[in-house]
Amino acid sequence: MIDLNELSALMITRRSIRKFKDKPVPEDLLVQALELATWAPNGGNFQPWRFLIISNKELIQKMADAVKAKTELMTSWPEAKQFGEVMERWRKTSDFFRGAPSCIAVFMGKYSSPADQVLRARGESDPIAREIRGYRQLGNSTLQSVAAAITYLCLMLHYFGLATTWMAGPQQAKKEIEALLNIPPEWDFVDLLPVGYPAESPEVRPRKPIMEVIEFRR
Ligand SMILES: Cc1cc2nc3c(=O)[nH]c(=O)nc-3n(C[C@H](O)[C@H](O)[C@H](O)COP(=O)(O)O)c2cc1C
Repeated sequence: MIDLNELSALMITRRSIRKFKDKPVPEDLLVQALELATWAPNGGNFQPWRFLIISNKELIQKMADAVKAKTELMTSWPEAKQFGEVMERWRKTSDFFRGAPSCIAVFMGKYSSPADQVLRARGESDPIAREIRGYRQLGNSTLQSVAAAITYLCLMLHYFGLATTWMAGPQQAKKEIEALLNIPPEWDFVDLLPVGYPAESPEVRPRKPIMEVIEFRR
């Protein structure tokens, strides 16, 4: 059995890294990390994910330009003014992944479980079916499955000495990124993980004391 101290250290020392060395990442390491990530638990074992490994510099720049353009637009809106410095920082950093030697784009499939199909067939007129559909949309099990795989992926990359940041922000340029990557309509872009060798060691972002987030009903 794996040593608990080593496993804890792997989990606790993983950090979101946003600066990378100018050194290519071996593709076989990425494939190995992804292969292990696909052992994540997932709804119905449908494995509703696809991963695109991008090491083409021009493509990475174009994706970053698309994200930056959307950030510029959003930060120019009057509604952004009240967030002052936070917006200014975001404006400068939302495209930091342009400095990564590789990126993994993550896509989610359109899985419909038997329960989803029953609820859809039941239609709008049944208020209980409508209510349950609402709960299930909120909890979106397909997205939860993809998130489980990304969690494993982040850990495995860290194990291999590689650095990443799980980025949902680039979704703001979903349409542009899907067009750049030539993605068919059955797949939805949800996250981007720039990957490289770390060129920074950021401070730990502390977690809440465990008893603040646990409750018991005994
Ligand atoms: C679902 C999700 C979305 C995230 N999106 C972004 C993002 O768009 N940009 C970014 O810089 N970091 C993003 N992060 C990274 C978080 O900011 C980071 O995990 C958190 O601050 C804790 O820091 P740590 O990962 O170093 O422990 C995201 C993390 C998660 C799990």
